[in-house]
Amino acid sequence: MEIVPLGPGFAAELRGVTLEDVASDDAAYAAVRAAFEEHSVLVFRGQDVTDEIQLAFSRRFGPPEVTKVGSQGTGSHFVILSTIGPDGKVVPADHRLSLRARANQLWHTDSSFKRVPALASVLSARIIPARGGETEYVSTRVAFERLDPALRNKLQNSFAWHDYAHSRSQIAPDLASPEERAALPPQCWRMVWTNPVNGRGAIYLASHAYAVEGMEAAAGKKLIDELMEAATAAGTSYLHPWREGDVVMWDNRATMHRGRPWPAHEPRLMVRTTISATAADGVDTMHSPSTQAAE
Ligand code: OGA
Ligand code: MN
Repeated sequence: MEIVPLGPGFAAELRGVTLEDVASDDAAYAAVRAAFEEHSVLVFRGQDVTDEIQLAFSRRFGPPEVTKVGSQGTGSHFVILSTIGPDGKVVPADHRLSLRARANQLWHTDSSFKRVPALASVLSARIIPARGGETEYVSTRVAFERLDPALRNKLQNSFAWHDYAHSRSQIAPDLASPEERAALPPQCWRMVWTNPVNGRGAIYLASHAYAVEGMEAAAGKKLIDELMEAATAAGTSYLHPWREGDVVMWDNRATMHRGRPWPAHEPRLMVRTTISATAADGVDTMHSPSTQAAE
């Protein structure tokens, strides 16, 4: 296996290894797992992806999430990201599926609004537009290490509230349905996720974050906005232009990502599997000692 860094300071393409190798071979898994801990975003090119292969690969890293209510693929291990309607045609720009695609274009990490946050996501390209539709990544680990030490210290002892309805409301007030709101009450997490393998901390924030525990609302929002800006500063991202056969895996503890727009009339179909974080991934250190999910 060859590791080709993509930069800046994170992200790498892995050559000479397939998803099936990882699913079936312990040594291949160990090598890819080590690269994942180190590089945070891994690109696999030229893969023969099926749902089964993607899921078998994903299971190696931990328990696969079951897709939440209100998402395409609900109840399965797959999230279907597409703007293709039931009639096989691309839906209009004001359709719920298009609005949801726009919500994915806000900087975020996956599943920080869930009771169990995610270790990793695995995304495969199935139908890609001719132009646009890239996925852009930043390292919140590199961003954390750029902050001044006083702020790093403060964040080590700070907690933020995450709510799915909050990120969706930035696109449309009722984009999160009553069922989604009921299933996904706000969650409070440390603002720094320390990787137990290498001890490196990363800012843990997303479009879902709306308040800092113990801070007045406006001041907390300001801190979140400033950190989001610092983490996504110009020149710090890796932009992935999708090709057929591409699979990208990312560490939700140490990165944020966003989808990029594409011409509204063109179809795009992506399939995601998401792996829940376990104690070995440091999730137990993320719980707030003093707060409980509201409501
Ligand atoms: C995701 C996501 C963005 C995209 O799969 O979690 O945010 O480019 N995707 O499809
Ligand atoms: Mn996402």
